[in-house]
Amino acid sequence: MTEIVVTNKPEQERWQARFGGEDYVFGTEPNAFLASQAHLLRPGMTALSIADGEARNGVWLARQGLSVTSQDFSPNAQVKARALAAQHGVSVEFVLADIDLWEWGAPRFDLVVGIFFQFCEPARRVKIFAEMQRVLRPGGLLMIEGYTPAQLKYRTGGPSELDHLYTEELLRSSFADLEVLHLADYEAELNEGARHKGMSAVIDFVARKPRLAAAG
Ligand SMILES: C[S@@+](CC[C@H](N)C(=O)[O-])C[C@H]1O[C@@H](n2cnc3c(N)ncnc32)[C@H](O)[C@@H]1O
Repeated sequence: MTEIVVTNKPEQERWQARFGGEDYVFGTEPNAFLASQAHLLRPGMTALSIADGEARNGVWLARQGLSVTSQDFSPNAQVKARALAAQHGVSVEFVLADIDLWEWGAPRFDLVVGIFFQFCEPARRVKIFAEMQRVLRPGGLLMIEGYTPAQLKYRTGGPSELDHLYTEELLRSSFADLEVLHLADYEAELNEGARHKGMSAVIDFVARKPRLAAAG
């Protein structure tokens, strides 16, 4: 198995065990919110999907003609992610890295996607949110879906720590430099594999990094 340096080995092993079976834990269809934003996508865009797991989202983006980088720290997830990409005949760049240790590189993405990556306490999250924003090109899009505090009553997926959950205010203030295109906090039935199933309280966020002002 591919070994990488991680900050929290037991946490990586926990995800490795979850992804060790044959089933796709969150399914092979894209996240419903992400798919609902298809009208904003154009073939040829460069996209980063962080904590992409078995790459149901990264592979779907590649199927839309985007040039995709899929990042996660679980080798087991990426074995299945590669199989899913091959099944659909698309190529995806897979980056195996701990998100806290990864060098995100220069701004180069037209789209940065983060779907259900609420494993971070606030201090870690600040850095990840800042990097998601930084690696966007001017005019680039950010898309996030996560659970809200109301999810604690449903227990149909997501973390149990209140401060890992998102509110409208948190997302607006964390991405105050971006233009918000869509922000919706709602409760709905999710059906995204065995781990995200049933009534759920989620928040969807789409924002654009400002384009550079024209000179003169
Ligand atoms: C709830 S799953 C969501 C997976 C994917 N975004 C989806 O919607 O199908 C959370 C993902 O975060 C990844 N993850 C957790 N901690 C991580 C870390 N420190 N660095 C990179 N990935 C991490 C897990 O391996 C897992 O794939």
